[in-house]
Amino acid sequence: MAKIYAVGVGPGDPELLTRKAERVLREVKVICAPTANPADSSYALSIVEPLLDRQRQEVIIQVFPMRKDQAGLDEFWESAAAEVAEKVRGGQDVAFVTIGDPFLYSTFLYIYRIFRERYPDIPVEVVPGVSSINAAAIAAGLPLGMASERIAIIPAAFDEKDLRRVLLDFDTVVLMKVSRVFDGVYELLLELGLEHNAAFVSRVGAPEEEVVFDLERLLGQKLDYLSLLIVKK
Ligand SMILES: C[S@@+](CC[C@H](N)C(=O)[O-])C[C@H]1O[C@@H](n2cnc3c(N)ncnc32)[C@H](O)[C@@H]1O
Repeated sequence: MAKIYAVGVGPGDPELLTRKAERVLREVKVICAPTANPADSSYALSIVEPLLDRQRQEVIIQVFPMRKDQAGLDEFWESAAAEVAEKVRGGQDVAFVTIGDPFLYSTFLYIYRIFRERYPDIPVEVVPGVSSINAAAIAAGLPLGMASERIAIIPAAFDEKDLRRVLLDFDTVVLMKVSRVFDGVYELLLELGLEHNAAFVSRVGAPEEEVVFDLERLLGQKLDYLSLLIVKK
C-alpha cells in the first residue's frame, strides 16, 4: 500500500537534508507543502525545489492559516488530510514536507493527529530533520547543553509569569516563535539581567541568516517569523 511520508527538510540549507529525505523526495509521486497564506510560497518547498522533477511529480500547496486561536481551523486540517488520503488510496506515495523536524511544533502534527484518528489504515512514516534549534545554536556558537545542564524549549507566546520561571529554572532556554512577542521578552531579560546572555537567530541556514547578540537594536522592529531566541546562562 502507498504511504504518507512526513519529511523534515531542515531549517533552510539544502545540505542539511538527510540522505533519507532526499531519497524519499525524489521517489514519491506527490509532494504536499504547507503555507500560512495563499499568496505566499511554501518555505519548506523552496528548500527542496531543486530536487524535484515537476514533469514527473505533482506538487500540492496546502493552506494552513496561522493564528493563536485554533477555533475554526479544523476544516483546513481535515480537508488537507482528505486530499492526501485520496492520493494515497489511489496508490500514490505522498511526501508532506515540513521545516526542521516534523515532530517539533510542525504543521504536520495537526494532519498526523487526524490521520491516526480517521485513516488508521494508511501508513505514515516520519523522516526526522535537522531542527532550527540545532542549526541556530551552532550558528550562534552557543552549545545547547553540556554535562548536567538543563534545556527548555518553549513557544514564546507564553504567560509572562511562566516564562520568568522557565528562565530562572533552566540553563538554556530556546524561545520559538519569538518574533511577535520579542519586545516583551526583552523587557523580562533586562529585568533578570540576562539581556547579554542571548542570541536572536533568524532564517538560519538560508542566505539571509542573521545572528544578533545586541538584542536592544531589534526593539520595535517587525521581526521575521522564522526566528528564535536562545538564552544561555
Ligand atoms: C512551526 S515552528 C516549526 C519548527 C520546526 N519544525 C523545527 O524543527 O525547527 C516555527 C518556528 O520554528 C523556528 N524556525 C523555523 N525555521 C527557522 C529558521 N530557519 N531560522 C530560525 N528559526 C526558525 C521559529 O521560531 C519559528 O517561529
